[in-house]
Amino acid sequence: MAQPIKIHRLSETMGAEIIGVDLNDLDDATFDQINQAYLKYQMLCIRNQDLKPAAMVQFSERFGDVLPHDNLKFTLDTHPKILVLSNDVDANGNQIGVIDAGDAWHSDHQFKEHPANCTILYSVKNPSRGGHTDFANMYNAYDALPERTKTQILKLRGHHSISKLKNKRVEISGARKDAIEFYKRQEREIPDVTHPLVRVHPVTGRKSLYCSPRFTIAIEGNGLSTEDADTLLDELIAHSIKTEFRYRHVWHDGDVVMWDNRCTNHRATGGYEYPDIRHLYRTTVEGEATS
Ligand code: OGA
Ligand code: MN
Repeated sequence: MAQPIKIHRLSETMGAEIIGVDLNDLDDATFDQINQAYLKYQMLCIRNQDLKPAAMVQFSERFGDVLPHDNLKFTLDTHPKILVLSNDVDANGNQIGVIDAGDAWHSDHQFKEHPANCTILYSVKNPSRGGHTDFANMYNAYDALPERTKTQILKLRGHHSISKLKNKRVEISGARKDAIEFYKRQEREIPDVTHPLVRVHPVTGRKSLYCSPRFTIAIEGNGLSTEDADTLLDELIAHSIKTEFRYRHVWHDGDVVMWDNRCTNHRATGGYEYPDIRHLYRTTVEGEATS
């Protein structure tokens, strides 16, 4: 029997919270309601979970293939598809999780041929202040562009790179001690890709603006000078982060937050410091080629 699910909008622009669901014991009918809400609101927060790692992986698998993580050092030993995001340290003072995930606006795995479909984060422990996650509705960002810009960008492609070293729009966090070596290695292992700047969602059919300061380093298209492309990218990025497209998620312990990377951008806001601990589990669901 379906669970007595309640769905409330989280903001004018995007997001909804779901109450009355236990993801450890999810039936198909309740999943269908969650999936419909996910497609409609683009970002969901399922409240009050005490989620077992196996159930987190199972829930994630309902949306597609759950990706193994590149960063094996910070996965759960028992469930390697779960990545730990944390500023906590072990008895020897070593980090136990990824500390600087997502500090600039981005869409997950935008630097891959098949970018992520959804990302799911389960909050085990929140800091007493800070540690929020900002989201931007990229359908609305696209819809609000002037018609001439929509026409101009229709056939253009964004050039995306994982490397922060190649990207003048982002800074390298001081928290990552091996940063230069880390990004050099990533540059060698993960070749740059291009995707359409206007992305069509494979399920809803809606268009969204698909670029971000973290991963988009250039725009490519016939007849566009490097300088004009750079100015256009600056303009599109500035447009996409306008407050009217945004929702800020202030976490509670036990929140399971998921978002659709095909039509949203997000960033971690930071603003907390050890020993105030922020500790989350993350899964990432493989997506399809862009169109
Ligand atoms: C991510 C990410 C943001 C956050 O895990 O992909 O961007 O607030 N996280 O932790
Ligand atoms: Mn992210």
